[in-house]
Amino acid sequence: MPGTVIIGAQWGDEGKGKITDLLAAEADVVVRYSGGPNAGHTIVRGQNIYRLHHVPSGILYPHVTCLLGNGMVIDPENLLNEMDGLMEGGIDISGLHISDRAHLIMPYHRLLDRASETARGRQAIGTTGRGIGPAYTDKAARRGLRMHHLLDVGRARDDIERACQLANLQLKFRFDHPGLDVEELIEQCQRWSARLRPYIMDTALFLDQAIEQGQKVLFEGAQGILLDVDHGTFPFVTSTATGIGGALTGTGVGPQALQRIVGITKAYTTRVGAGPFPTELFDAAGDRLVDQGHEFGTTTGRRRRTGWLDAVALRYAVRVNGLTDLALTKLDVLTGFPTLHVCTAYQVGGQKTTYFPARTDQLAACEPLFEALPGWSEDIRDVRAFDQLPKAAQQYVQRLEQLAGAPVTIISVGPDRDQTFLRAAE
Ligand code: GDP
Ligand code: IMO
Ligand code: MG
Repeated sequence: MPGTVIIGAQWGDEGKGKITDLLAAEADVVVRYSGGPNAGHTIVRGQNIYRLHHVPSGILYPHVTCLLGNGMVIDPENLLNEMDGLMEGGIDISGLHISDRAHLIMPYHRLLDRASETARGRQAIGTTGRGIGPAYTDKAARRGLRMHHLLDVGRARDDIERACQLANLQLKFRFDHPGLDVEELIEQCQRWSARLRPYIMDTALFLDQAIEQGQKVLFEGAQGILLDVDHGTFPFVTSTATGIGGALTGTGVGPQALQRIVGITKAYTTRVGAGPFPTELFDAAGDRLVDQGHEFGTTTGRRRRTGWLDAVALRYAVRVNGLTDLALTKLDVLTGFPTLHVCTAYQVGGQKTTYFPARTDQLAACEPLFEALPGWSEDIRDVRAFDQLPKAAQQYVQRLEQLAGAPVTIISVGPDRDQTFLRAAE
């Protein structure tokens, strides 16, 4: 049975964790394919709230094997804390495995991330400060350290030393920082090695065998397509392929392994960090979305910027990822707005366009053209079927499908796993 991919269709935080947890009930394997602890995926099960950063959102099911794919960057200290937290909560993590090809986020990457953000001043990206950009930079520059270096730290000593010395040079000359002690870093690596060694394996080989045996695989994305290093709002993006390309290169499977490609979108839009956001609201409606949607970052606690749904961006997400269908989250948050607005086109330089521009300054200059739709006032958090939704909510979903060019097959009306229903494509 070929796999299902979960992709953020906006700027992240669309509810990928919740939808992955939902679909993982039917899966054998869940694999995270990109990003690292910049991600914060929330799963709510009754009174229990789990916030995952590295670990795939299938971990709550004892029957699911969870893989950290080769496309990820992994902070060993942070991952070990996350694993300890899960174990303390009684979660069985014996099914967790880490790709031997995934790159390591070292303590100097976090320092470099923060220092380079400070150096950017007003042009700062607003990164999560987790060392993501510098770790992927080292990967592309072919000097990064990978998970397999932790299998034998003695053998990896020269590589670790060289990588640390290079980072120290940068820290010293660019940021006037004394740098890190190589011996201390090697000791740290030895500690990480002792604990992580049993989890490290060739996850691509494991996946190939799982697929061969007909197992169901769920590919869990992080961030969203508008933060993709190629297709996103560059340079206000993360440093990796968050979309469909990343699902392949970040796990080591071929395209035949993929059947369903689900884009996750909120019923409105949010963004954390800097960068253009055409439908952003600066008024009471924006504050209301923050309040009703509890829009504060899972990883950094930052207040998320909010705005109306941008159907130009959503259509773009469908196109560049080949999304087969959409999961619509947080529809409940729109309850009580008398009128809703959806952006159907941009006005830029006296022209109307429905295409997403490459240039950040152009996107920043885009005026959103809105279509107004009627709102609803009924509480929909207990609705479990499409035809039980108020008519206005049904119309909102149907219009969104038309504009996006993909069917909405999953609707979420609250954070809890149960607050979801499926809908056949029409
Ligand atoms: P992710 O990064 O895509 O996994 O999303 P986050 O977990 O960072 O942010 C989504 C937030 O919305 C989390 O706090 C979820 O518990 C919450 N959430 C998910 N779906 C819904 C929904 O349908 N309604 C409401 N009210 N909250 C939701
Ligand atoms: P999940 O998986 C929302 C944003 C940061 C910043 C930019 C670059 O929870 O959806 P980075 O630390 O990656 O170098 O930051 O990307 N960002 C996210 N925004 N959700 C995320 O992950 C994000 N991961 C990174 O805020 O603007
Ligand atoms: Mg998140």
